[in-house]
Amino acid sequence: MAKWTLLTAVALLSPAICQVPVQPNAATAADPAAGKTIFQSHCALCHGLDGGGGRGPDLRRPKLDRAPDDEALKSLILNGIPPDMPDGGFYSPEDIANIAAFVRSLGNIPPEKLPGNPARGQALLERSGCLGCHILAGQGVAFGPPLTDIGAKRGAAQLRETLRNPAKTIPEGFLLVDVTTSSGQTLRGIRLNEDTFTIQLKDSHGRIYSFRKSTLRALKKLRNQTPMPSYASAFSPAQLEDLVAFLASLRGLP
Ligand code: HEC
Ligand code: HEC
Repeated sequence: MAKWTLLTAVALLSPAICQVPVQPNAATAADPAAGKTIFQSHCALCHGLDGGGGRGPDLRRPKLDRAPDDEALKSLILNGIPPDMPDGGFYSPEDIANIAAFVRSLGNIPPEKLPGNPARGQALLERSGCLGCHILAGQGVAFGPPLTDIGAKRGAAQLRETLRNPAKTIPEGFLLVDVTTSSGQTLRGIRLNEDTFTIQLKDSHGRIYSFRKSTLRALKKLRNQTPMPSYASAFSPAQLEDLVAFLASLRGLP
C-alpha cells in the first residue's frame, strides 16, 4: 500500500516516467481491428456483420462505386448518403480512419456468389410488369424507385426480401398518401415533398401533383404500406433467384 503511494508520487513528480511512448505516426496509422468494432455496432445493421450487405450494399468489393479512394471513403463515412445512410459526424478522425481501413480490408473477401441466372432474371423482369412501376435504364414508369443502380444500393438478401415481402423493406423516406380534394376527387400517390402548407405527390403514371393542404378534404398517410405486390407465390424460388441475380448486377448506367 505504502509502496504504491510512493510510486504514484514519483510518477506524478517525474514527467519522464509518466510519458506514454508514442508511435511517430500514431495519428495516421489506421487500425482495422478497432474499425471492425465500430463497424459491427454502427454499420452492420445495414451492411451485415460480415460486410456482405442488406439494406446497404455488399462492401466486399475491391473497388467501391461511391468511394474510389481512401479520401472519398472517409468523407462518405463522415457525411453519409442522405436519406439512406446516416452521417458519422460524431466520429473522431481516428475512428473514421479505422472504420475506413476495416472497410478496405473487406475488399479482399470475394463477394457472395449468387445462385441465380441474371439473363433469365432480366427476361422475367421485362415480362412481369415491373416496368409498369419502375424505370430501368430509361425504360418504364417512374412510380417506384429507379432500378438502374439498385444493385449498388442494396445487398442481395434485401433484394430477395423486397420481392417476397415489399412492405418489410420500405426505403427510408418512402410514404404512400391518399388525398381527397375539395371537389371529392381521390388520388393515391407517393410523397415527393411536404412542408407545413403544401404536399407534392407522384401518381402511378409518374405524374406529379402539388396540393395546398388547406384546400384538401382529407389527407391520409399510409405508413408502412406499399403498392408493390409480393412475388413470393407468383414466381418459383428459382425464378426469384434469377431476378435477385439480375437486380444485384444493376450498378448504374456506364
Ligand atoms: C441505415 C442504413 C445504413 C447504415 C447504418 C450505414 N450504411 Fe452505408 N450505405 C447504406 C446504403 C443504403 C448505401 C447505398 C446508398 C446509395 O448508393 O444510394 C450505403 C453505402 C455505403 C458505401 C458505399 C458503397 C459503394 O459501393 O460505393 C459505403 C462505403 C458505406 N455505405 C459504408 C458504411 C459504413 C462504414 C457505415 C458505418 C459507419 C455505414 N455505411 C452505415 C446504408 C447504411
Ligand atoms: C404497382 C407498382 C409496382 C410494381 C408492379 C413493382 N414494384 Fe417494385 N416497388 C414499387 C414501389 C412503390 C416501391 C417502393 C416501396 C417499397 O419498397 O415497397 C418498390 C420497391 C422495389 C424495390 C426496392 C427499392 C429499394 O430502394 O430498396 C425493388 C428492388 C423492386 N421494387 C423491384 C421490383 C421488381 C423486380 C418488380 C417486378 C417483379 C416490381 N418491383 C414490381 C412499386 C412496384
